[in-house]
Amino acid sequence: MISEKMQKALNDQINAELFSSYLYLSMAAYFEAENWAGFSSWMKKQSSEEYGHAMKFFHYLNEVNGKVTLEAIEKPKTTWKSPLEAFEEAHKHEIYITNRINDLVNLAQSEKDHATNNFLKWFVDEQVEEVSSVDQIVNKFKMVGDNKVALYMLDKELGSRS
Ligand SMILES: [Fe+2]
Ligand SMILES: [Fe+2]
Repeated sequence: MISEKMQKALNDQINAELFSSYLYLSMAAYFEAENWAGFSSWMKKQSSEEYGHAMKFFHYLNEVNGKVTLEAIEKPKTTWKSPLEAFEEAHKHEIYITNRINDLVNLAQSEKDHATNNFLKWFVDEQVEEVSSVDQIVNKFKMVGDNKVALYMLDKELGSRS
């Protein structure tokens, strides 16, 4: 049986992953409104990936006979100054999520909860991937700058994410 403390922390993480999903969906809506179909498509995929992360925690908590408790999801921002600013915020957000995952690992270890510690390993690796992929995109935006043709091509490139 999972400890109350660990259960609360995992429930909080479900909320954080659902907020990530909501934030990226909000960025997708912003890109849609600005006619960046490729950036919007990338963010929609990222949003469903985040929903998938929330569901991994959801299933795990049930598997260990815990209780999932859903809370209100914070309202995300709805507009950004530029595509670069939105992706920079996504990058900052993934660093924040990485810190949260690290805190969960620390808690699992201090609670001597080996099952949760093992479960979290997937997320430790996933966060390395998330931070690095968004970082690469931010760097591309910086290279492109205000060049409209290059931005158009970057929109096409991000739109091809499978
Ligand atoms: Fe996530
Ligand atoms: Fe990912």
